[in-house]
Amino acid sequence: MSSDQFREKLNKQFRIFFDKAEQERRWNPYRDVPWDKINPETPEYVAVCAETFLGVESFLPDYISKGLAVLRNSSSAQRSFSANWGYEELKHSIALMEYLTRSGKRSDEQMHDYQQALMKQSWTRPFDTARQMTIYGSFQEMATFVIYLRHEALAKKHGDEALAAVYRFNARDEIAHAHFYEDVVKVYLEIDRPGTLVDIAHVAKNFQMPGVNIVPDYDQRIVLMREEGNMDRDIFLQKVYFPVLKYLGVTRQELVQVAIDARAARKATQTGANAAE
Ligand SMILES: [Fe+2]
Ligand SMILES: [Fe+2]
Repeated sequence: MSSDQFREKLNKQFRIFFDKAEQERRWNPYRDVPWDKINPETPEYVAVCAETFLGVESFLPDYISKGLAVLRNSSSAQRSFSANWGYEELKHSIALMEYLTRSGKRSDEQMHDYQQALMKQSWTRPFDTARQMTIYGSFQEMATFVIYLRHEALAKKHGDEALAAVYRFNARDEIAHAHFYEDVVKVYLEIDRPGTLVDIAHVAKNFQMPGVNIVPDYDQRIVLMREEGNMDRDIFLQKVYFPVLKYLGVTRQELVQVAIDARAARKATQTGANAAE
């Protein structure tokens, strides 16, 4: 596949994605959430979870600037996607913040202090190539989708229809993001299947959620979530990793083979180096 064909395929994916977003997925966090259906009795730990997600979403400036740095020269479709993605992600933090303040769970001052604390840290981009970051995006968006769905159910369980709607709107965006990234990974697989498989194995092995180490008290917050929707290894495999592989048309056997080949190559290099000494 030539680089022109690559760009053409990605442009087509972006047109489909953006057209569908404009037609079916535009929403307004101030107006479309039924704010009169906040349940004042919703327990504090549910609010802490919302605050944690807000923390993760709040690193948007880093995600955009550092993500775009590797994507900007890759294709115009990926640049356009990043711009639109930033707009959609912004609404996720607006909706979560509106919930926390409108419900009275947090004051404006507390929200201000939280944002200040968050911005003392910065997100480090976990991978360095456009292809690896696109694979990472597939897993990360799918994981966020799964978590938000679980918290939509939790909010419903507590009779908080407003919070459930926030998670529902956010989740619908996240799954659309996951599918765009996956569709781009499919194109990468068409161009260079062995190389893309190596990257998928590498990203899956080193994957972690973006809030780790940058959201204050992240570990304690995760303990609180454990019961209700934390992304542990089993859930990651069942609800994220295997479904993404299935969507990509990649088998686990292929990835196992990639790992075996990589190990054999390392061993051969080592043997060569030892023989040369
Ligand atoms: Fe988001
Ligand atoms: Fe997203």
